[in-house]
Amino acid sequence: MTQSTEPPPLVSFPQNRSCPYHPPAAYDTLRAARPLTRVRLYDGRPAWIVTGRDLARDLLADPRLSTDRTRPGFPVTTPRIAALRDRRPVLLGVDGPRHRAQRRMMIPSFTLKRATELRPWIQEIVDRLLDEMIAHGPPAELVRSFALPVPSMVICALLGVPYDDHEFFEEQSRRLLRGPTAEDTRDARDRLQEYLDALIDRKQREAGEGLLDELIQQRLQEGELDREELTALAMILLIAGHETTANMISLGTYTLLLHPERLAELRADPSLLPAAVEELLRLLSIADGLLRQATEDIEVAGTTIRAGDGVIFSTSVINRDEDVYPDPDTLDWHRPARHHVAFGFGIHQCLGQNLARAELEIALRTLFERLPGLRLAAEPDEIPFKPGDTIQGMLELPVTW
Ligand code: HEM
Repeated sequence: MTQSTEPPPLVSFPQNRSCPYHPPAAYDTLRAARPLTRVRLYDGRPAWIVTGRDLARDLLADPRLSTDRTRPGFPVTTPRIAALRDRRPVLLGVDGPRHRAQRRMMIPSFTLKRATELRPWIQEIVDRLLDEMIAHGPPAELVRSFALPVPSMVICALLGVPYDDHEFFEEQSRRLLRGPTAEDTRDARDRLQEYLDALIDRKQREAGEGLLDELIQQRLQEGELDREELTALAMILLIAGHETTANMISLGTYTLLLHPERLAELRADPSLLPAAVEELLRLLSIADGLLRQATEDIEVAGTTIRAGDGVIFSTSVINRDEDVYPDPDTLDWHRPARHHVAFGFGIHQCLGQNLARAELEIALRTLFERLPGLRLAAEPDEIPFKPGDTIQGMLELPVTW
């Protein structure tokens, strides 16, 4: 009898999680094959997948990997991402000096100092939303009444986008990130773009307060930014500013409610909160699947990534590298969770991370302080969460207290 020498089929990426805070069981093969292996994408193409933490940080800082989605052969993990390749990107999607210039214009609004200054104001938003939720409940649906409005209100005020329009832009973001078809995604993008264009027109006629107004006055008028870039910046900040943090609040709350001893420890000693947020970011890795393409051959981990190859970074797998995080599937904020890649790494590392950390700390601390009896209002495995091909988080979170 001859033994088959057929290699096993490549694991497909992405896949749905079966528990919202653990990577799909099928990624166990990827976890075993550290630090680099291959996966198959939805369109049948193979791609490299980085699974080791140290290699991930090396490669995310390597200028031979591009984020330019308009390059031929750039890897796409969903038809939605493919549908959005027809427009000039900003920040994520731009390499080299233009990226540096765009990023430099954004930095002053997103420093740690700025996020610290904003804390009392974020606290007011959180308090007001909890007052309303408590006045109307129990029970409550936490995504709609808390997890989504907190970051949505924060980013609206920072940018100078009227929060009264939140239903419109939250709906378009939802379709953009999770719409049923590529056409739907493109339509949502176009509608959001028209909305932001009209808003920028209005602001050019009559200045208001916020980052968009500052960019119009200081950058657009000076010719440092063009109009198309400004609209695209408004879009990435508006979407990234509310969707990601909202998912961390909802999934973070769900995870803590399912770890009562950990939650009791946190309640007894709130000074643990910054470490808890860092550990939740690591464990939940909600932005799972960062996309790059090699522009040159790269010799790495005993193999060669060829120019043109797609390279994916699975943050959920990388952040559970057991050489770096012993017992990686356990929620344990006594470990040093720092240096995870939940916010990416290198020049594209999350611009909003200081703001996100401030929002998460304030939202989670205040939620559990104000509602000591907070609990799930449905069986944990009946609560719907997001599919694997988008930012991970809860679709709904029924709670009572
Ligand atoms: C917990 C919440 C968040 C998570 C987990 C998260 C995650 C990430 C990740 C993984 C990247 C890198 C993507 C890559 O390298 O391919 C990134 C980039 C980015 N994030 Fe966040 N993000 C969060 C919150 C925010 C917020 C609140 C904002 C805006 C206010 C924001 C704005 C951005 C922008 C503009 C980039 C692109 C930066 C660049 O290309 O230079 N993010 N984020």
